[in-house]
Amino acid sequence: MNDLKTVDDLNATPVRTLPDTQEVTAVQHWTDRLFSFRVTRPQSLRFRSGEFVMIGLLDERGKPLLRAYSIASPNWDEELEFYSIKVPDGPLTSKLQHIQPGDEIILRPKPVGTLVLDALMPGKRLWFLATGTGIAPFASLMRDPETYEKYDQVIMMHTCRTTDELEYGRQLVESLKDDPLIGEFVGDKLKYYPTTTREKSERMGRITDNLSSGKVFDDLGVPPMDKETDRAMVCGSLAFNMDVKAVLEGFGLREGANSDPQEYVVEKAFVGDGI
Ligand SMILES: Cc1cc2nc3c(=O)[nH]c(=O)nc-3n(C[C@H](O)[C@H](O)[C@H](O)COP(=O)(O)OP(=O)(O)OC[C@H]3O[C@@H](n4cnc5c(N)ncnc54)[C@H](O)[C@@H]3O)c2cc1C
Ligand SMILES: NC(=O)c1ccc[n+]([C@@H]2O[C@H](COP(=O)([O-])OP(=O)(O)OC[C@H]3O[C@@H](n4cnc5c(N)ncnc54)[C@H](OP(=O)(O)O)[C@@H]3O)[C@@H](O)[C@H]2O)c1
Repeated sequence: MNDLKTVDDLNATPVRTLPDTQEVTAVQHWTDRLFSFRVTRPQSLRFRSGEFVMIGLLDERGKPLLRAYSIASPNWDEELEFYSIKVPDGPLTSKLQHIQPGDEIILRPKPVGTLVLDALMPGKRLWFLATGTGIAPFASLMRDPETYEKYDQVIMMHTCRTTDELEYGRQLVESLKDDPLIGEFVGDKLKYYPTTTREKSERMGRITDNLSSGKVFDDLGVPPMDKETDRAMVCGSLAFNMDVKAVLEGFGLREGANSDPQEYVVEKAFVGDGI
């Protein structure tokens, strides 16, 4: 028997040519609901740190099932990194959480988003305010030299329910100091302020409360927010974003966009109220 396929065989197993596929190069699981992964980068893909793209897999019927994902790697990285939730019955992430190096995912190379440095007026101090996977765009911006060229100080506030959910961000920040490419830009400009809300840890409390009460300024020994000098980027649930907006407006900051740079910008970390 030779293994040449007959026309019937070929019809029975249609060859699918996937558009825009990239190969998974690494996967790391952080908790039972969080993982990160890296994929090859399309040669033609240019993006601004902080932007998001559509990624996904084929569904059972062979149709692309795509979701928005912030690119967590900086724009100079030769691969792309993503940081993902695992939604137990989520159409995409119930499958995506099982990817392995060598697998292929779909990536539409059309980056967009408002969490970009160009959408802010020049300032001296930049605040990244994130809950949960909302840290992903800031994982990109914290690794971009331009962030440190444009600002004297960068403050990363990240809040999760428990300590283990902070680990991806903690290790990333820790690695920056000694990073041969970005370390010298970061210097001592980056301050990291992680907090938990439902597990006892060194620092606790919601970002909104720690800003409103002034606790974060006291803890870090920095002056309160001032619209003349401070700029902010916000990424979390809809409820978080709404509440942070009110706090920032209280400090006199105004919301901007790509077409209208102001003092702060906001993007949803996901659509919906929660799992
Ligand atoms: C602009 C933008 C950027 C995004 N970037 C990321 C990212 O970098 N990483 C990421 O994991 N997700 C990100 N998301 C969410 C992502 O698009 C999907 O919703 C997520 O991957 C779940 O897909 P799913 O098909 O499994 O479930 P879906 O049907 O999409 O979601 C089911 C429910 O799960 C909850 N949920 C979805 N995503 C999250 C999340 N990230 N954190 C907490 N609860 C969530 C919501 O309640 C949602 O209604 C982003 C969404 C938007 C709009
Ligand atoms: N994280 C988990 O262990 C876990 C496990 C199973 C299911 N889920 C579900 O997954 C969904 C997403 O969970 P998540 O933990 O990623 O996101 P989340 O519920 O938005 O909480 C993330 C962090 O943001 C804080 N936060 C939430 N709303 C806020 C607001 N309006 N202002 C300021 N801070 C706010 C939370 O503080 P508070 O703790 O004070 O709310 C928490 O520290 C939720 O619906 C949850 O029920 C979560």
